[in-house]
Amino acid sequence: MATSAPRMLRLGSLLARQAAPSSLLQQQFRTFSDNAAAEAAKAAPEAVKADSGSKGKIRGVQALIFGGLGAGMLYGYSLFTSQPPPSGPLAGPPTLPTGTAPKTSTPGDYAAVRDSISSLLEAADYDDGSYGPLLVRLAWHASGTYDKSSCTGGSNGATMRFPPECEWAANRGLAIARQLLEPVKAAHPWISYADLWTLAGVVAIEDMGGPSVAWRPGREDYSDGSKIVPDGRLPNATLGAKHLRDIFHRMGFDDRDIVALSGAHTLGRCHPDRSGFSGPWTNAPTTFSNLYFQELVNNKWRPKKWDGPLQYEDAKTGTLMMLPTDLALLSDRTFKKYVAQYAKDEEAFFKDFAVAFGKLLELGVPFPSAEKAAATS
Ligand code: HEM
Repeated sequence: MATSAPRMLRLGSLLARQAAPSSLLQQQFRTFSDNAAAEAAKAAPEAVKADSGSKGKIRGVQALIFGGLGAGMLYGYSLFTSQPPPSGPLAGPPTLPTGTAPKTSTPGDYAAVRDSISSLLEAADYDDGSYGPLLVRLAWHASGTYDKSSCTGGSNGATMRFPPECEWAANRGLAIARQLLEPVKAAHPWISYADLWTLAGVVAIEDMGGPSVAWRPGREDYSDGSKIVPDGRLPNATLGAKHLRDIFHRMGFDDRDIVALSGAHTLGRCHPDRSGFSGPWTNAPTTFSNLYFQELVNNKWRPKKWDGPLQYEDAKTGTLMMLPTDLALLSDRTFKKYVAQYAKDEEAFFKDFAVAFGKLLELGVPFPSAEKAAATS
């Protein structure tokens, strides 16, 4: 794991904290860039991969010129139609890294994979300066489909590579994360996608200053989407405490786990073109901390007046947001008890989060039982 990354990312957060709230235009441009990257990656994955090495640099300059022209045209188009821009070669990948390809490794060298993931996290032109939050969301959505009663879903299989799962509304935006990890997969072809995506979540948490999360390999990739579960197993942000319990108890989590896992919303932001919601939960969205819980308890939250789904904004500045499901953690007495604890005690949050997140990433994975015993002893 790269040692300099956490410091850099924390610095990014600090700058973000000082920055003025992003204007609607910036937000729209940001979301346009995300769309363009995803669409371009879908349309021309080879071109994205070729963006490394000296040949890649020349192509990078060309891409910058043509991509810039195309971006302008497509941005205009997207403003005009309010629709995501169409895919095509002009929608260049302005947000994907253009650095050197990750170093290759021998099978089983997970430290090398971790290094490759770390090297991709920082990106000055993407969101708040890091792909970390997006990778955490990828790892979570790849795992959070699990149903303990039927033993279906979960992180095994990496089924989000296939339709319809890759097209679920809940997974919008995650094509960017999957594409981002392609060079890592190319450099370390021996690792499964299912292991890579979950490991990426762990590395991102750690590099953003969070706790170490126990992780072990062993997931396989299914060859097709035949084991994809029905849509609707991931949480719906417009609902309340009962829904959260239905969703997370189904996976095998308890109330404390629900609150601890929700603390991941200390990272990242909502994107209007992905979920329909907008904005960050904290002013330090690339640093893993207990700030989400502090903001929850220390602010007054009022419904945001806007042309979008119900979400809440802090009454003082109007720059932070909470989803209806986030506020359900305050209105439910049991959930609130844990929110108050985590707001005061970051160490307790880190400890509980690490255990719950590690468990989440293993849902549906048939590890050999002897190995499981070794991991828990
Ligand atoms: C409790 C139920 C949850 C709901 C309803 C929910 C909903 C959402 C929504 C609507 C977004 C915005 C997506 C976008 O517009 O880009 C989001 C982002 C995010 N979620 Fe959750 N989420 C939940 C739980 C979790 C859990 C358990 C984790 C991880 C342990 C997590 C990690 C994240 C992260 C890191 C982001 C930011 C992604 C980015 O910045 O691109 N969420 N979530």
